Amino acid sequence: MTKVVYVGMSADLVHPGHLNILKEAVKLGDVTVGLLTDEAIAAYKRVPFMEFEQRKQVIENIKGVKNVIAQTTLDYVPNLESIKPDFVVHGDDWRDGVQKKTRQRVIDCLAQWQGELVEVPYTKGISSSSLQAAMKEIGTTPEVRLKSLKRMLAAKPILRFLDIHNALSGLIIENTKVASEEGIQEFDGMWGSSLTDSTAKGKPDIEAVDVSSRMSTLNEVLEVTTKPIIYDGDTGGKTEHFVFTVKTLERLGVSAVIIEDKTGLKKNSLFGTEVAQTQDSIDNFSQKIRAGKNAQATDDFMIIARIESLILGQGIDDAMERAEAFLNAGADGIMIHSREKSPQEIFDFCERYKTLRNKKTLVVVPSSFNTVYESELRERGVNIVIYANQLLRSAYPAMTSTAKSILQHGRSSEVDAQMMPIKQILELIPGGK
Ligand code: SPV
Ligand code: MG
Repeated sequence: MTKVVYVGMSADLVHPGHLNILKEAVKLGDVTVGLLTDEAIAAYKRVPFMEFEQRKQVIENIKGVKNVIAQTTLDYVPNLESIKPDFVVHGDDWRDGVQKKTRQRVIDCLAQWQGELVEVPYTKGISSSSLQAAMKEIGTTPEVRLKSLKRMLAAKPILRFLDIHNALSGLIIENTKVASEEGIQEFDGMWGSSLTDSTAKGKPDIEAVDVSSRMSTLNEVLEVTTKPIIYDGDTGGKTEHFVFTVKTLERLGVSAVIIEDKTGLKKNSLFGTEVAQTQDSIDNFSQKIRAGKNAQATDDFMIIARIESLILGQGIDDAMERAEAFLNAGADGIMIHSREKSPQEIFDFCERYKTLRNKKTLVVVPSSFNTVYESELRERGVNIVIYANQLLRSAYPAMTSTAKSILQHGRSSEVDAQMMPIKQILELIPGGK
């Protein structure tokens, strides 16, 4: 009787390594490919370049593949239990690292019906990660970048964003990775903060840095990165002006703008009620959202409404009323802000937000309530966490301390150990030599 062979794969960037595994698998029997869904891939690495259906089309047409089914988790066990294969074939590169436990579960599961894991030697000189790095070097297009936020939202339970204020901060977000039990951890995208952009330009966060100047920072960042950007649109300005900002952002490939329901001279929210701040009326702000939505050219751009009720001491009922109205006006999501030390009022809002019939993407900014874990927010239905200013706040003290040390000692040698070596800074950005 023909044996049943199972091969699990992501097959995003198909290369000779994949073909080699399939070639070996075909020798053993009828091959079913368990194609990982976008969600399954995003759980341990980035969202794939191609969507599930596109990847499926490729794999179905490879010689010897009899059947393609969805594997909805990184874990093979549910699919293995349903098709009870005689063999599972995989590259031998999963013995260490993130997939080690997955591998052991495959072995234990197959043992129930004397199935066998066959490991094919890893094809040297080519891998998805090296292809991915090469693609990153080529860059991206505004259209692909713009769409990527919606794709990530569909594939991942929670996204994390971090502030940009120049190209270098963008590069940090683009490239910083840490390995963890759950896979490689990295930031999903960049927050075009008005606070850090203004601060880096030596201006207060009161919409004094004009939109052209803000766009010039964005352009700097866009030039050297590929990840999605959520732009802090402050109040959005006058409705008649906001529609142009939407068009400009969309043309640049920015994925979303967040505008806050305040009017007049905007002050930073983290001042709370220490300064005079006026909240916009529900009707007025809804009108601004509607105008923005009508101005955008694609279905992919998102306009997210930021509610300042908790910042201004107006309470959760007011915040909820606004959330419902702004979503009805066409907002693609809500950002709820708070300056409390404790996350409790955000948790309370999340509980009530869950019950909204028209709820969409929920965004929070844990600057003050910074002890909260992303996992706690995820459990409560938060979709995007924005670390709004941490990069600039860490850079400034480091630079000030260097400046002081040079003044104190009349030379720079004392701070040398705190700084990046000259050779490293020269080589930090490739192409300098
Ligand atoms: C920003 O980063 O500019 C923000 C978030 O708007 S906050 O500073 O917390 O208001
Ligand atoms: Mg801001």
